[in-house]
Amino acid sequence: MCGIIGYVGKKQAGSILIDALKRLEYRGYDSAGLALLDRGKIFPLKRVGKVCELERAQRHFRHSGTIGIGHTRWATHGNVSEKNAHPHLSNGSHFAIVHNGIIENYLQIKTFLSEKNYTFYSDTDTEILANLIDYHHHKATHLPFAEIVRKSLLHVEGTYGIAVLGKPFPDEIVVARKSSPLLIGLGDGENIIASDAAAIARYTKRVVYLNDGEIASVRPDHFSVMTADESSVDTVCHELDWEIADVNCDGYPHFMLKEIFEQPTAIENAMRGRFTRDGSSTKFGGLSLTPEALRSIDRLFFCACGTAYHACLVGKYLIEKYARIPVDVEYASEFRYRNVPLQRNTLVFVVSQSGETIDTLAALYEAKRKGYPVMGITNVVGSSIARATDAGIYQHAGFEIGVASTKAFTSQLTIFSMLALLLARRRDMDQFDGQQYVFALKSLPKVVGEVLKLSERIRSIAERYCKRERFLFLGRQAMYPIALEGALKLKEIAYVHAEAFPTAEMKHGPIALVSEETVCIFIATQRELLDKTMSSLQEVRARGGKVVVVAGDGEVEWEVFGDEVIRVPEVHGGINPIISVIPLQFFAYYVGILRGCDVDRPRNLAKSVTVE
Ligand code: F6R
Repeated sequence: MCGIIGYVGKKQAGSILIDALKRLEYRGYDSAGLALLDRGKIFPLKRVGKVCELERAQRHFRHSGTIGIGHTRWATHGNVSEKNAHPHLSNGSHFAIVHNGIIENYLQIKTFLSEKNYTFYSDTDTEILANLIDYHHHKATHLPFAEIVRKSLLHVEGTYGIAVLGKPFPDEIVVARKSSPLLIGLGDGENIIASDAAAIARYTKRVVYLNDGEIASVRPDHFSVMTADESSVDTVCHELDWEIADVNCDGYPHFMLKEIFEQPTAIENAMRGRFTRDGSSTKFGGLSLTPEALRSIDRLFFCACGTAYHACLVGKYLIEKYARIPVDVEYASEFRYRNVPLQRNTLVFVVSQSGETIDTLAALYEAKRKGYPVMGITNVVGSSIARATDAGIYQHAGFEIGVASTKAFTSQLTIFSMLALLLARRRDMDQFDGQQYVFALKSLPKVVGEVLKLSERIRSIAERYCKRERFLFLGRQAMYPIALEGALKLKEIAYVHAEAFPTAEMKHGPIALVSEETVCIFIATQRELLDKTMSSLQEVRARGGKVVVVAGDGEVEWEVFGDEVIRVPEVHGGINPIISVIPLQFFAYYVGILRGCDVDRPRNLAKSVTVE
């Protein structure tokens, strides 16, 4: 989703802004722009499309400067066009602003400013902010820059991460945050601000994260932070401890494929150092829960969005099966506005790859407001969710760039599987079963490596079915969320209509969709209920539907009834969902490629969803 960058120092800002914007591309966007302060005047440059378009235009841009702001926009208010791209300038070009988030009362502010003779040239909510800042500046020209911005923001309802450039303040950028991430990267005689550490890790590893309601003034040699009610803030400088490799595909045609193949390593990293010495359980240093506290949990509550929500559903099946603790799972976007009754002794988890999803963050705050300690499972160290949770588990899956989550998903499944074991061993699971479980987990990277060898086989199946327009994904129990994930991947990456159901639900309605055009993908890798799955498969066949089965390598002769059978190793139930989803990731990837889709940047989607 939208990305923000800003530079103030001694170097040429233009090229730094373009380089940093490129590192934000993975988030998804539709236009890009920058503004430089050159000899006392602000000059904007914007382009629809990729950052390379902006870069091309910048080569012929006659303006330069050592201070500037940049943005990648994902349209919310107003169509995708140069006029709606950021930065937006105030009337008279005294101020330029880039903004992530949504100003909810923008129409009200626009009416107010229109009455003061301000004119608007875009359809965005952001432009009103530029003019509101200009209005407050003209009301009190003596005020410091950050104070003008602070006064302006007092009138604003909604969410924002902003960076503002002001003609009257030639060596200063003001930034502010409310529910949209921002950080200041500290350099030597220069500072760089961004909405995402990935954009600036190349320039500095020392960062200060802004908290909600904070406003900062950033100059080349100095920065200061205050709150919306004017209190000064003691900031903490963090060292980025993650290496952000240069964004490249390492010889793979797409990040998505690269990340599918990175799964053995991502899973290994999720497990590293997290087994107990006796080899029968797991431990998570970050959870900071005593054995007594773990034992006293009566219920678990998981909240997330999209793929992370599917991981939570798998977590529910595993924890209920092995640890016998009831688990509720909610979409974060629903939970935040629902008054969900939570029982005492409920342990709440929010799960988010990016750690920045606004709905998940809001759900976290809602659970905390109700007085529950909230744990997090996230991939991004220092992300908003990582910092707002009381304790948690890092995934260590490495940087995920492809918009469709793959390795982060299986890494979350690995963590849930380990959590199920941890809780089970605190209750009824004996040491022998615990050891078997650990053995299975430790074998995962190797088994996943085996499944990755199916890539070409799945490509050939994708070739046969890529022109079909209707896919049903079917699975029972823990394979139902895997079916949901398979359908989501196909929708996102290949823009094909795909739905998922618990297999036995077919005859309660969805079977009406089955015709010769329909492809039904059965996920039948678990040992339980295989004969029931076989009956459902026959029902589809009897109606002319095409059948693809993802099955274990056991004895069932799926080949007799399925049009295609993808065999994966038969494994322990605690890791089976991980093995089962990989063929579906490949399938979505190849169908997407064969249909000519931009699989790394699917249309309308963003890597990190920071607006509602
Ligand atoms: C699907 C996908 C999205 C995300 C969702 C939550 O491939 O990537 O559905 O899973 O937007 O994102 P995080 O996990 O960053 O909170």
